[in-house]
Amino acid sequence: MLNDADLDPAPIKGRTVAIIGFGNQGRAQALNLRDSGIAVRVGLRPGSARAGDAAAEGLTVLTPVEAAGEADIVVLLAPDEHLPAIYAEIAPALKQGAALGFAHGLCVHYGLITPRPDLDVIMVAPKGPGAALRRLYTEGRGMVALAAVAQDATGQAWALALAYAKALGSGRAGAGVVRSTFEQETVSDLFNEAAVVWGAVPALLEAGFETLVDAGIDPQLAYLECVKELKLLADLVEARGIAGMREAISNTAEFGATLGGPRVVDGAVKTRMAAMLSELRSDGFARALSEEAATDYPRLRAERRKASASALEAARKSLL
Ligand SMILES: NC(=O)c1ccc[n+]([C@@H]2O[C@H](COP(=O)([O-])OP(=O)(O)OC[C@H]3O[C@@H](n4cnc5c(N)ncnc54)[C@H](OP(=O)(O)O)[C@@H]3O)[C@@H](O)[C@H]2O)c1
Repeated sequence: MLNDADLDPAPIKGRTVAIIGFGNQGRAQALNLRDSGIAVRVGLRPGSARAGDAAAEGLTVLTPVEAAGEADIVVLLAPDEHLPAIYAEIAPALKQGAALGFAHGLCVHYGLITPRPDLDVIMVAPKGPGAALRRLYTEGRGMVALAAVAQDATGQAWALALAYAKALGSGRAGAGVVRSTFEQETVSDLFNEAAVVWGAVPALLEAGFETLVDAGIDPQLAYLECVKELKLLADLVEARGIAGMREAISNTAEFGATLGGPRVVDGAVKTRMAAMLSELRSDGFARALSEEAATDYPRLRAERRKASASALEAARKSLL
């Protein structure tokens, strides 16, 4: 893990960064860079509702093509499924020898974007949402980030990636910058999203809630037990690790956990996880995501409707 003492700010000093997109990551990265003394341009499509927010922060707002043409480093911070079209639009405007930046390796790793050979291609991927990246920076702290280089046309790509991570605040106390690769970041990120924290954990909470309710337990109580306590677990694991979490709970809870955890998450779960990991190593997921976007997100819309109408959501609302 690298921290501020290991990170040289010089490679980004005096250079102009274009941030394309002003959403979750775009807003946080543009403001952190600006506050670190870097000249920032924000590239937004005409009519963007966020242009006013960026301008109110004192940032210069241009179209993506104009911003890219003025910058030495162009960072694509719109949704991954839209990045190939955005790159195709801005590519002719990119300066010779400029750097192209990402916060996730998906498009480059799966070949959805093939950057021009004269460009440095770097990734700085903060390990958390933009709101937290910005909040930590304003508190004098930082967020852990992975840095990687996919194409080193100038010989300076690594130095630039690490300087960019420093300007985001990721080298500060409590954070740090980890050298990685586009392949490792992409596969591990997609795997966690699909099979662990964002995919399996909510599915486990829902299954627990439904099992109790189907057996006649009050839905409010089922929600409090199976869903609400997740925050207690997350705080303990973050502060003390899994071993420390076990020490902090009652013997009754710990005894039950040691018996029940391995029964629910048995060897078959790891077999299915391994199958998902090998599927993610191919480009099938990235292409399915592009298809989902091209057809206006039918799966995401249906699943969002289903979650809003669920008994679990009704129990949550009844407790507000
Ligand atoms: N979200 C996270 O916590 C997180 C964490 C680490 C890395 N990342 C990575 O960061 C990148 C950005 O993700 P995000 O969640 O920050 O995205 P996001 O918030 O959904 O991005 C929204 C911004 O993208 C712009 N945009 C959307 N479609 C566009 C298009 N076709 N052309 C031009 N601009 C377009 C939007 O423009 P308008 O203003 O016009 O709507 C808006 O300004 C992704 O690579 C993601 O994997 C995200």
